[in-house]
Amino acid sequence: MTAFARNQWYVAAYSEEIGRELLGRTILGEPLVFYRAEEDGTPVALHDRCVHRRYPLSASGLDGDRIVCGYHGFTYDRTGTCVYVPGQKRVPRTARVAAYPVAEQDSLVWVWVGDPALADPDTIPRARHLDSPGWTTVRGMEPIDADYGLLVDNLLDLSHETYLHGGHIGTPEVAETPITTEVDEGAGVVRVSRHMADAECPPFYARSTGIAGRITRRQDIEYHAPCLYLLHSRIAPVGAAPEPDGGDPHGFHTEITYAITPSTGGTVYDFWAVSRDWATDDAEVTEFLRANNHTVVMQDVDALNLLQRTLGTERTGYQELSIDIDSGGLAARRILARLVEEGDKPAEGVR
Ligand code: FES
Ligand SMILES: [Fe+2]
Repeated sequence: MTAFARNQWYVAAYSEEIGRELLGRTILGEPLVFYRAEEDGTPVALHDRCVHRRYPLSASGLDGDRIVCGYHGFTYDRTGTCVYVPGQKRVPRTARVAAYPVAEQDSLVWVWVGDPALADPDTIPRARHLDSPGWTTVRGMEPIDADYGLLVDNLLDLSHETYLHGGHIGTPEVAETPITTEVDEGAGVVRVSRHMADAECPPFYARSTGIAGRITRRQDIEYHAPCLYLLHSRIAPVGAAPEPDGGDPHGFHTEITYAITPSTGGTVYDFWAVSRDWATDDAEVTEFLRANNHTVVMQDVDALNLLQRTLGTERTGYQELSIDIDSGGLAARRILARLVEEGDKPAEGVR
């Protein structure tokens, strides 16, 4: 089981998921309840267990910006302080639940479950395309019953597209084309690139862009450990004119974003988004990409659920065999192990 790096920011939800309905989510094993304060519109994260008899606050109700426990009415303000108990005037001094640092950026709500003194929102990596003008995004979230490390492995090695996602985003060239891997240890970033000069256009792009023939296809991964994964995808018809700077034709530029948020040991939230800066008003393309990418995500979900169940029946100490395609995943594991070990302060440098 991959240990948790606690002193890090994690995506808890999409902005639109947090409103005046209480939302319960378990992150790094901590049950949390989220809502948006009426007072100033900012998201609030509190521990999701009433101090009285542990009733989930997420199953309770809001009175203004206070949560009223749905069992016996203990009432908490947005700092987690209990301000009312039934049947007596005196509120016990220890009656409080933890409040967690939250930050909202690029239409994502991030939470910090580690030492609050170390939480610096300026270290949160950006995903500006998610809510910038000129971009259209489809997105969703799927819980997976698997160690979050299996999802990191999955996303850092896209050779699996050929086999698991054939007929959608995979073509033979993805698995055949060697990758280059770069690691920025200080920033905690792994970059994996695969540039295909002459490849089949997979249905995901053929149907959405209308390209009929073969393409140049670039996949440039940028993984900001532990949570944010960006895949910069560029495709263009083979032979398309180069960019004015002489570089590869940019053609169709798509940003694929994942947030990998460990829930419990052995479960993970898989946030996924596909953003494009082309055909942004075309509702048919939007619907096609949403449905197609959801199918692709569910192929991964099913595969990782199966893999986790299978690993659960393995003898301890089983051996893996890694090859060149695994260099990104192995680098990510090393960085995650360091973040866990550090106990953990945020990685130094720009994130
Ligand atoms: S469990 Fe919340 S008030 Fe009793
Ligand atoms: Fe996949």
